[in-house]
Amino acid sequence: GKGLAVFTSGGDSQGMNAAVRSVVRMGIYLGCKVYFIREGYQGMVDGGDNIEEANWSSVSSIIHKGGTIIGSARCMDFIKREGRLKAAHNLVTRGITNLVVIGGDGSLTGANLFRQEWASLLDELLENNKITKDQREKYKFLHIAGMVGSIDNDFCGTDMTIGTDSALHRIIEAIDAIVSTAYSHQRTFIMEVMGRHCGYLAVVTALSSEADFVFIPEAPPSVDWQTKLCDKLEQERKSGQRLNIIIVAEGAIDREGKPITAEMVKKVVVDNLQQDTRITVLGHVQRGGSPSAFDRILGCRMGAEAVMALMEATPETEPCVVTLDGNQAVRLPLMECVRRTKAVAQAMADKNWDLAVQLRGRS
Ligand code: F6P
Repeated sequence: GKGLAVFTSGGDSQGMNAAVRSVVRMGIYLGCKVYFIREGYQGMVDGGDNIEEANWSSVSSIIHKGGTIIGSARCMDFIKREGRLKAAHNLVTRGITNLVVIGGDGSLTGANLFRQEWASLLDELLENNKITKDQREKYKFLHIAGMVGSIDNDFCGTDMTIGTDSALHRIIEAIDAIVSTAYSHQRTFIMEVMGRHCGYLAVVTALSSEADFVFIPEAPPSVDWQTKLCDKLEQERKSGQRLNIIIVAEGAIDREGKPITAEMVKKVVVDNLQQDTRITVLGHVQRGGSPSAFDRILGCRMGAEAVMALMEATPETEPCVVTLDGNQAVRLPLMECVRRTKAVAQAMADKNWDLAVQLRGRS
């Protein structure tokens, strides 16, 4: 059977295990020899026990677990050609020419670069007598399929990244808990949520928790935001509300591109309204815990599709990323999605928020 390996890379997210499970089982079902690569690209570079053959039962009882059982890492060695050479050697000697990468845009870009270099890496290995001529010929094509695992929902081409829905569950649970204590003490709470440069988690959280105000990177508030914020909070209190909730995305910025932090917002509220105010930074709680049903199914669907894409690949097939589009699992050209995702980052850096939102698309 064909050699196929799966690995998770970059920040973890809930639902990655479901995706790993699906890749392993679909691969075995289709007659592949399936491997785990542990600790992301680092495991690929280091080889040894990090690359281990998987069987049907090695992915039993993981679908409900948060994080990734095969580990994840941000790898510096893979950035250098020397590291990629070692990785190629580790794959060829095991007969692995199909890779499923589950990660963010950085991890997917790395995989694409690796594929582009594959022929020259193999030539160098042959020159150095690390592989045989037969191996050079037999394993000359590397096929890649990606899936996006991230709580941030910041990748172009998919309606939802694997992990976002679970993170929202975690956040909403926390806010509901905060609301009850805020109510008792008539307090104002400022909640900082993750998302890096993406405001998706913050917006959905604000809408589903009846928050009074939200700060996100894609829509920096007008220069008089302090007045608007205070007016809104006052108005809510006057109409009988006992508490206020303000959501601040960790990447929130003002129109000059300077960060708007929970501390800054708190100072505005306390100085102007003298409200009893607290900050809660949810942090990595958002990335932990068991995956939601949605993320489990999403991981399963994406994983199966990724393996099918690899099995159907020809030498000419470009690397794909499997995404969700209107509840359909689809295959998109990996690099086009990465380019669009980078264009969003550039538009944000250029303070062209409208373009950023437009480029990001449906999500
Ligand atoms: O990309 C996922 C994410 O959780 C972001 O929301 C956050 O900015 C970042 O990772 C935190 O990174 P680390 O886990 O390295 O602290």
